[in-house]
Amino acid sequence: MVSRVIPVEPFDLVLFGATGDLARRKILPALFHRFQIGQFNTDCRIIGSSRSELTAETFRSQTADAIREFGQNVESTPEEISAFTALLDYAAVDARGDAGWDNLREKLRDDVVRAFYLSVAPSLFTDIARHLSETGIATSTSRIVLEKPFGHDLTTARTLNAALREHFEERQIYRIDHYLGKETVQNLMALRFANSLFEPLWNSSHIDHVQITVAESIGVEGRGDYYDKSGAMRDMVQNHLMQLLCLTAMEPPAQFTPNSVRDEKVKVIEALRPVPQSCIARGQYRGKDGDGYRDHAGNPASRTESYIALKVDVANWRWAGTPFYLRTGKCLRERVSEIAVYFRDPPHNIFEGSGPVHGNVLVIRLQPDEGITLKTTIKDPGPGGMRLTGANLDMTFAEELPDSGRPQDAYERLIMDVIRGNQTLFMRGDEVEAAWAWADPIITNWQDIGDTPQLYDKGSAGPDDSLLLIHRDGRRWRGIGA
Ligand code: BG6
Repeated sequence: MVSRVIPVEPFDLVLFGATGDLARRKILPALFHRFQIGQFNTDCRIIGSSRSELTAETFRSQTADAIREFGQNVESTPEEISAFTALLDYAAVDARGDAGWDNLREKLRDDVVRAFYLSVAPSLFTDIARHLSETGIATSTSRIVLEKPFGHDLTTARTLNAALREHFEERQIYRIDHYLGKETVQNLMALRFANSLFEPLWNSSHIDHVQITVAESIGVEGRGDYYDKSGAMRDMVQNHLMQLLCLTAMEPPAQFTPNSVRDEKVKVIEALRPVPQSCIARGQYRGKDGDGYRDHAGNPASRTESYIALKVDVANWRWAGTPFYLRTGKCLRERVSEIAVYFRDPPHNIFEGSGPVHGNVLVIRLQPDEGITLKTTIKDPGPGGMRLTGANLDMTFAEELPDSGRPQDAYERLIMDVIRGNQTLFMRGDEVEAAWAWADPIITNWQDIGDTPQLYDKGSAGPDDSLLLIHRDGRRWRGIGA
């Protein structure tokens, strides 16, 4: 059952890269699902675009195939799919040349929201933005949507931002970090700022440290070419983990409005201390019979990390003395994404000899099994005197809120926010640049010192150096798949 659907106003959404992988796997099925639940209807249109000369009819039938293949086990009827594909049109354009743009312009209506989703290689971002503006296709109320990577470093990110701002104002630019569209990531804000329990304790007086983990079980097969030029630092830490860090560490914004929230996130990034190499562990997975990272990357001499762990200090009044340990990697034992907040031990143990008294741990699980767990210490039930044991207060959202319907894909929420004109869950240009300004020196240092990642076995918990990184502070990682 899905309730509380608020319809959006009519729109024309132009999807560049409409025949590409992201469009087929994520964007078109996401749009279909929102159509299916009635968030938009037949006064909306989706115009696919790419270099290929396709008829609208072919695009419709390819989209129907994509929905059937990648529709995330959501039941749909042939009637629903054909009602959705009836909203589709297609216009071939040459992103770098002039062909096709006049035809695209003629397809657009004047009195509806215009959104342009660039699901294309980043090297085409600027050309498409320029064409949209020079042809008059983009108006002052149009929105442009882009997905990472936003540059490869600070210099290229600045160049990209400057090029976009020649044609669009910041209020029109929607930079997607799909982690911000995940239900639990938004729940982090609700947990912190819609409850009075946690916020008074949310500081270094009460929190010993925070662990942010995004572990993946898949490798880089099929994406090796891109990934080998990026590595885990650029692919995951500079964006997704940074966003999780920001939402965990930021001050309460005055309002839940795009700029209030994003102002607070930027302040966190700007408060990050430079990370010395001694606080970093890099790894690369190895596998048997041509199935290791270097094989997948097609680069036998690759020094790119498929795993990274960092100890990060947020140098401000709230967090001084509370490290944030971040880790992410490919081909690990299990797929787990979570934020674990370790509270300090109680100041005095009155239960000497009855068992350990540990600080509470609040675990916010992003995937799988979205939910929140609070590790507590209780009396072991039954006879035997005062014996203490650990117990979890566990809230798995799917169990607690069974009527909330199927899990929503992050793209569904984000695309609808574009149409609604709500930028809260999108990255602002200065945020992206601040994140690169922090990440760049770390990455260039590896090149300067010729750093080589430590090998780890596929299906393990990562390289040994990562364990040392936290053990030497007298702390332990939460288990991955333990
Ligand atoms: C992408 C990265 O941004 O996020 C991928 O480029 C990664 O390497 C993916 O696999 C992880 O996203 P999710 O939603 O599966 O955790």
